[in-house]
Amino acid sequence: MFKEILHRLQGRIPTLPSHAAYELWAGTYGEQQNNIFLQAEERALLPLLDEHPLTNQSVLDAGCGSGRHIRHCLDRHAMRIVGIDFSRAMLHRGAWASEQHPVSLVEGSVEMLPLRDSSFDLVLVPLVLGHVRNLRPAAAELTRVLKSGGRLLISDWHPENERRGWKRVFEVPFGEGRAGRFAVQHHFHETDEYLRCFESEGFLLEKRIEPAIDESMRKAFENNGMEKIYGKHLGSPLVLVLGFRKP
Ligand SMILES: C[S@@+](CC[C@H](N)C(=O)[O-])C[C@H]1O[C@@H](n2cnc3c(N)ncnc32)[C@H](O)[C@@H]1O
Repeated sequence: MFKEILHRLQGRIPTLPSHAAYELWAGTYGEQQNNIFLQAEERALLPLLDEHPLTNQSVLDAGCGSGRHIRHCLDRHAMRIVGIDFSRAMLHRGAWASEQHPVSLVEGSVEMLPLRDSSFDLVLVPLVLGHVRNLRPAAAELTRVLKSGGRLLISDWHPENERRGWKRVFEVPFGEGRAGRFAVQHHFHETDEYLRCFESEGFLLEKRIEPAIDESMRKAFENNGMEKIYGKHLGSPLVLVLGFRKP
């Protein structure tokens, strides 16, 4: 039945609500080579992670997915890492992480975190908030669980991507070399909306980085068959990375 639906949908790109999308995407999530968005995001975010040692820090990875940033925090010897995600299938992808000593994985939403007040020194929210229609409940929850003096690092698709009409598309293989293509529902938030929302929670903006398409990404675009897009959008921002501190 499911295969039947996928067959019928092939050729169009339907948009799925984010929870349903990640439940479906989880099986292949993170397998794409040359993912230009992840490369751009890491180029901006990892130096921010490195600004302070994590050795005595308690870290929340909100919307941890397959645990990409949990791995980065493990590499930096974080004292305690909690990964939370609302998709069971994505948490399953991240299950490797729960076998590591300081990591625990929890099912839950960034809009209602099942976590104690003031329990983290560092909160990461990588490529997640675009899936949240209204930023305010998530911002209030992220503020609540962060200790005073703690850091909040957010990354997301850049609002420019919306203006270009780009979609977050993924493929689900369904046998005999065929695949269904879907877009994940994304609620674009302007940069000012992020700033207003988190500053009204009392956060101080420390970093704003907008990695753009540049020469170093040419190969990745070529390997994805996107040479034309590379030429057209060279110099345009791809990802928004914001670093805040809770006073
Ligand atoms: C693009 S993936 C990013 C995964 C990971 N943060 C990374 O950067 O590799 C978005 C993740 O956010 C999760 N997610 C989306 N909305 C969420 C919400 N409201 N609460 C918790 N997780 C959410 C999805 O299930 C998915 O795993």
